[in-house]
Amino acid sequence: MRSKLIAGNWKMNGSLAANQDLLLSIEKALGAPACKVAVCVPALYLAQVQHLCASSALLWGAQDVSAQEIGAYTGEISATMLRDFGVRYVLVGHSERRQYHGETDDVVALKAQRALAAGITPIVCVGETLAQRESGKTAEVVKRQLAAVIHTNGHCISEIVVAYEPVWAIGTGKTATPEQAQEVHALLRAQLVAASTQAERIAILYGGSMNAANASSLLSQPDIDGGLIGGASLKAADFLSIVAAASH
Ligand code: 13P
Repeated sequence: MRSKLIAGNWKMNGSLAANQDLLLSIEKALGAPACKVAVCVPALYLAQVQHLCASSALLWGAQDVSAQEIGAYTGEISATMLRDFGVRYVLVGHSERRQYHGETDDVVALKAQRALAAGITPIVCVGETLAQRESGKTAEVVKRQLAAVIHTNGHCISEIVVAYEPVWAIGTGKTATPEQAQEVHALLRAQLVAASTQAERIAILYGGSMNAANASSLLSQPDIDGGLIGGASLKAADFLSIVAAASH
């Protein structure tokens, strides 16, 4: 049985003061959750989160990692640096990185490899744009994105987490229906099963305007193993409602 994971993606939001309020409110209500709960924060705040969350059930992650191991790569942050700050997860290939930073499938696959080598679980994000969905290319796009990661990380693919985030649902208030999401999750599951005998262990999260109101119906689908939450992860009450929805 896969345990569910609810991960917040704060994106480029937060401040020392706001993070402290948010983290303490989440921790106070979280107790011993029935699913895994994590926040993926801007790298600068990892030390703060490590300090504030060390003795709670809340796990933490980063939003990106370098595809390089070490050296003259100004501005980059390596997987081993993330590990120094207790990072358990790192997002790789978020559509905002693919779109605004030109990340290719091959770069995303290398980033996943660096994370795995450092003992950090990469949350590999895949998803189609609206134009791709409307032209019937959803399956082709998400399978191509995942195939690159499987190709590079074959033997340890069961250590990754996958997040299906349709680009048209991110920050738009338009959520994929549970059936639309399940259809893609089942495709991704089949692709993982073909690549690994351990594929049933791999959590496949849904992301894209998930909120307190729609979380239960999405999370009740057989291949939806959790959520990657943007906007709703910035409000403790909303985030905690999603955690509650994942806990029964
Ligand atoms: P929203 O929940 O704000 O749509 O963002 C989803 C997302 O991109 C999480 O990585």
